[in-house]
Amino acid sequence: MIKYLNTNFNYDEKFVETYDEAPLWSSIFAQLLFENINYEDHISIIDLACGTGFPTFELAQRFGSNCKIYGVDQWKEALKRAEVKKFNYLVDNVQFLECNAENIDLPNDSIDLIVSNLGINNFSNIENCLKEMNRVIKNNGKIIITTNIKGHFKEFYDIFEKTLFEENELNLLNDLKNHIAHRGTIKSISKKFNDFGFKKIKVKKKVIKYNYFNGTSFLNHYFIKAGFLDSWKQLVGKNNLENIFKKLESNLNKYSNKKGKLSLSVPVLYLEFVKNRPVT
Ligand SMILES: C[S@@+](CC[C@H](N)C(=O)[O-])C[C@H]1O[C@@H](n2cnc3c(N)ncnc32)[C@H](O)[C@@H]1O
Repeated sequence: MIKYLNTNFNYDEKFVETYDEAPLWSSIFAQLLFENINYEDHISIIDLACGTGFPTFELAQRFGSNCKIYGVDQWKEALKRAEVKKFNYLVDNVQFLECNAENIDLPNDSIDLIVSNLGINNFSNIENCLKEMNRVIKNNGKIIITTNIKGHFKEFYDIFEKTLFEENELNLLNDLKNHIAHRGTIKSISKKFNDFGFKKIKVKKKVIKYNYFNGTSFLNHYFIKAGFLDSWKQLVGKNNLENIFKKLESNLNKYSNKKGKLSLSVPVLYLEFVKNRPVT
């Protein structure tokens, strides 16, 4: 009997729990990934910074059961969730490893491909992570990353800058510039990878629009609060926090009123590298 013909899902509470679970934000980046990745047979893949298993299960199923996928993340609770998905989806070529990207629990030269969807800009020490990736990946093995780069939420940051100026927070203007510059460019990211033995072989970029009714709906969106708001609060500091955010929200709303919506640019980048030398 063909195995897939014999699949019987229980469409019960446990199945439903994970049925609709991939953040829209992550999916946009993964879309570019799955459009451009080369599909190969019999390879070993790490999904680095896999969170709750995205895009781990997509990789596992799209590449097929001859491939082995390791989902690596240091977030214990997220991996627990990923295990529930593994049970629900009946996918068995996936193994999750709870570890830091700086210290991956796999042997030297054992991996053909590392994929990281929205991972690298979350690593606190990217250099250590790159060194570790170089260790586990085979010679001529590949790394594919997707990430957002400079230009991310440009319209929002322009209004943030104007707000700080209006509030006479001139010291913070410099902090905001550094915060924006912290996001890489194709050139700066490629150079980092190059320094750690990886040569750039493919670049794909598109700019999508993330739209909201206005600043209020944007600032109250759970994903914006979970993913971005803390870094903006830290930038502003405790003094004058409420005033600055009141003014920022009002400026965003004025802008949205004029334009008919708050439309934010998000550059989505796909970069592929090949390992061309070991780094010790
Ligand atoms: C923005 S999420 C991306 C998750 C997933 N890949 C996706 O596309 O939705 C970033 C992930 O990086 C993980 N992370 C951050 N620093 C890490 C590190 N040093 N080692 C392993 N995982 C790390 C976080 O735990 C989180 O799951």
